[in-house]
Amino acid sequence: MKIIIISSSPNKDGLTAACADAAIEGIVKAGGEAELVNLNELKVGMCQACDNGWGTCLEQHECQVLDDFQSLHQRTCSADGLVLVTPVYWGEMSESAKAFTDRLRRCEANRDEESALCGKPVLAVAAAGGSGGGMITCLGSMERWIQHVRARTFDLLPVNRWSRQYKLDTIRAAAKALVQEME
Ligand SMILES: Cc1cc2nc3c(=O)[nH]c(=O)nc-3n(C[C@H](O)[C@H](O)[C@H](O)COP(=O)(O)O)c2cc1C
Repeated sequence: MKIIIISSSPNKDGLTAACADAAIEGIVKAGGEAELVNLNELKVGMCQACDNGWGTCLEQHECQVLDDFQSLHQRTCSADGLVLVTPVYWGEMSESAKAFTDRLRRCEANRDEESALCGKPVLAVAAAGGSGGGMITCLGSMERWIQHVRARTFDLLPVNRWSRQYKLDTIRAAAKALVQEME
């Protein structure tokens, strides 16, 4: 089982990175293969709403804005499951997570059962390291995204500075369970 972990903070040593590491530990412990992607190290720009609002994403299920999106789209769709980890910015996903998930949704949401993400389990983690607020609104938009791409919500986990220690254990356990459930 290959699980792709998409982490989206510029901070390599922060709460988001710790959550991604915990997910990797859980996946590996269950005998799965973990592939980490640090979105902020890639060039994935925002959706350009090409032409009249839809570009090639609607019919061809490919984005016509050429950057690192295309290879990441392929890597994401070839994984058996996803872990999405974002810092909470203004109660939302980070800008890099939003850019990638927006474009991926446009490519995969209109494919019905043909979506490469159809039924795949997604573990979504929202890391709020500031006020600790906004985790639920962030997870709410992540849950809608999971529904739009026809994937399956495995779990939605909020983490803040105060819950960090026990939530890292929870992420480890959730990632392990995600792999075990698929076997
Ligand atoms: C633009 C911006 C907006 C933020 N908004 C929130 C917020 O709504 N709630 C919160 O708890 N923290 C907020 N923070 C703090 C981040 O969630 C915090 O830095 C988090 O730990 C990021 O993960 P990191 O440790 O990986 O950088 C914000 C940070 C930035 C840069």
